[in-house]
Amino acid sequence: MNELKFIAERLLTQINNASTLQELETIRVYSLGKQGEISLLMKTLGSLTPEERKERGAQLNAVRDQITASLEAKKEILEASQLQERLEKEKIDITLPTRPQALGTIHPISQAMFEMISIFKNMGFSVAEGPDIEDDFYNFTALNIPQEHPARQDHDTFYLPPLEAGKERRVLRTHTSPVQIRTMLNKKPPLRIIAPGRVYRSDYDATHTPTFHQIEGLYVAEGVHMGHLKACLQTFCEKMFNQPQLPLRFRPGYFPFTEPSAEIDIACYRKDGQLIVGPGEDWLEILGCGMIHPKVLENCGIDSTKYQGFAFGMGIERVAMLKYGIPDLRSFYEADLRWLRHYGFSPFEALMEGASE
Ligand code: DAH
Repeated sequence: MNELKFIAERLLTQINNASTLQELETIRVYSLGKQGEISLLMKTLGSLTPEERKERGAQLNAVRDQITASLEAKKEILEASQLQERLEKEKIDITLPTRPQALGTIHPISQAMFEMISIFKNMGFSVAEGPDIEDDFYNFTALNIPQEHPARQDHDTFYLPPLEAGKERRVLRTHTSPVQIRTMLNKKPPLRIIAPGRVYRSDYDATHTPTFHQIEGLYVAEGVHMGHLKACLQTFCEKMFNQPQLPLRFRPGYFPFTEPSAEIDIACYRKDGQLIVGPGEDWLEILGCGMIHPKVLENCGIDSTKYQGFAFGMGIERVAMLKYGIPDLRSFYEADLRWLRHYGFSPFEALMEGASE
């Protein structure tokens, strides 16, 4: 027994002193492995009398269990300290200064979008999305622009072949209005959404690019009227351009999906060749809007005798140009680093802007 106690103590001390997992594994092999010290002692049990075997067997089992438990415990300790060591080694010093030349900027279109979303969120709108590749139905037909409607011509549509022969052709969405349809078909009123996103038209000159961005708004509930529409868009324009009481002009307009429809101009003036938003002698059109046409509500299964709604849509680039003083639309898409550094926004500022609203 004494000799066994001695072996056990020696092994336990070795386990205790092990400083690496590898060392521990070596101890495990030479104590409990097939040819290990304890395992070999176990093998000698066969040559003992049943009486002796019972006693010796119990002692050996106890030693083996003690060593197994102690190996396990030590393993856990070593693993934890190994992890700690790795974490220490891989620590990143976030107080190091950034490299200014490597810092990216937020594109003015994203910045304008963030600002718009944050203003509308404060009025209770939430963001909805739709696909860039649309069915003709969502982009046109459901919006009360049937097949032969002249309004289709205004859209300079990029057409895509149908997914399967005989099915309807698809389009790159020409506006964000199809998101209205998707929302009204999938959710029940009251609805209050905005849908910012990319749109496509086959057009290219100083004031048109084949891809640009719009933000769509939709509000459907009981008893909605033109007054709500006016208040909502007046508030938006004042906040977006940081000008309380910014004069707006509502002009009658025409869109197949709204009745009545209006276009909104904001007051502006020219100074040193630059267009500036604010009370002055000029007006600039910035958005289209109106009361949702009853046919559009009905196309989406909404009872137009119970529910009314307003909708609006505006180009994000135009607003960004006005707000940030960017003179040329095409420059948005040229990916010119000097331009991006000049007109881009600090990512930290953009975050703060969103957080403060
Ligand atoms: N979809 C229109 C366009 O691309 C913009 C628009 C006008 C959207 C009036 C609306 C609206 O929701 O009510 O020109």
